[in-house]
Amino acid sequence: MRVGVIGVGHVGLVTGAALAELGHEVVAMDLDVAKIELLRSGKTPFYEPELDELIARQTATGRLLFRSEPAEAVGDAEVLFICVGRPTTAAGDASLTAVEAVGRDVAKHATPGLVIAEKSTVPPGTADRLRLTIARERPGLAFSVVANPEFLREGHAVQDTLRPDRIVVGSDDPGGFEAMRKLYGPLVGLGIPLIETDARTAELSKLASNAFLATKISFANALGRVAELTGADVVRITEVMGADMRIGPAFLRAGLGFGGYCLPKDTQTLERIAERAGYDFGLLRAVMLVNEDAVAAVAAKVEEAVWNLEGKRIALLGLAFKSGTDDVRSSPALILARRFADEGAVVVGHDPMAAAEARAAIPELEVADDPYEAITGAHCVVICTEWPEYRELDLDRVCELAAYPIVVDGRNVLDPDRAEIAGLTYLPVGRPARRGEDVVG
Ligand code: UGA
Repeated sequence: MRVGVIGVGHVGLVTGAALAELGHEVVAMDLDVAKIELLRSGKTPFYEPELDELIARQTATGRLLFRSEPAEAVGDAEVLFICVGRPTTAAGDASLTAVEAVGRDVAKHATPGLVIAEKSTVPPGTADRLRLTIARERPGLAFSVVANPEFLREGHAVQDTLRPDRIVVGSDDPGGFEAMRKLYGPLVGLGIPLIETDARTAELSKLASNAFLATKISFANALGRVAELTGADVVRITEVMGADMRIGPAFLRAGLGFGGYCLPKDTQTLERIAERAGYDFGLLRAVMLVNEDAVAAVAAKVEEAVWNLEGKRIALLGLAFKSGTDDVRSSPALILARRFADEGAVVVGHDPMAAAEARAAIPELEVADDPYEAITGAHCVVICTEWPEYRELDLDRVCELAAYPIVVDGRNVLDPDRAEIAGLTYLPVGRPARRGEDVVG
């Protein structure tokens, strides 16, 4: 099928490339001319495993084109994906200006029969609004709007798109379903379920999924606080809980909490949608508070361990909001960096992918090329992101290089026994601390 994609951020770029891989002819468009030029020169604007190869393969087949004029993506398309950003307003509501602008472009350039698919995460009722906008701008145009939320994770985006757990299509008209069944035919043929709902249900199901993942993480973090206060071990508790098929082990890792562009924003958006609709979703406010508290609790461990921060050197291992990405948006590591720098500490960070991005966000941050360089002379080492290489750290070397042998493990990646044998004062989250001879605090 002929597919247009508006917006080549994480979702749009991966969606476009994946649909080309499934055999469709894709024109991906963005108003950001520099980004389109970059893509046309064979470069990807962000890091995502397997994406460079996928884009190279599909541009070579001629099935994936990059353009900067809306007419070029909309004009010939049978299905048009809206993948534009959906930021939040200062009050925390979803900002849908970019989505409405696409509606106007569609009205201007669409061929009759076009199916418009919302991929951006949007509040319930957006498909109706979009339909109305297009009908007002171009009365008489035949078109359908479907909600087709995206569930890809950064760092796994290509696999999540080519082998999703489920595909969701929400629409209030049969023509929309028909086109989407055809489009996703190759995936449905592999046994991937395609769930059909009305548009509002599909829109809300995406926000619900992200808010529920956030709830699981905050539950684990709140439990971690109780475990610390009662001498239990949250890692083992969540292992026990996760072995129950009804609960499952995913998203129960206690630590510095959830960051990134989606979980914090979507949890807040769902809470605001509920409030505006007349329901007090206090549970989600608690989820957000526990998440803030998770970072504050790790900061308190550092402050307690080193005493005054002024002039102390703090090494942050991991700056991205999670491993496998160079994204530092709402990264807990950067919240810590800001706080420690404001308290007068010298903050040095390491990250295999996100050092430059972190530096741009926090100019005072020093960045090191390898973790041991960051650790050298540090009064406290804080593990902020679960990059596999930190799990393998040579802890004897950490002890030798650090000014004080203190490690605060914000992601519980180290083996406490190994840390103790190396002589570290080891302060994990939600599990018993191991205090070496250098007992501070
Ligand atoms: C999230 C969802 O997982 C995707 O399904 C969704 O499509 C995407 O948002 C989106 O809406 O675009 P992503 O933001 O890439 O994906 O990140 P996650 O893998 O969900 O991780 C979010 C945060 O939770 C990270 O900071 C991670 O470190 C943290 N986390 C995750 C925990 O603290 N504990 C856990 O057990 C799991």
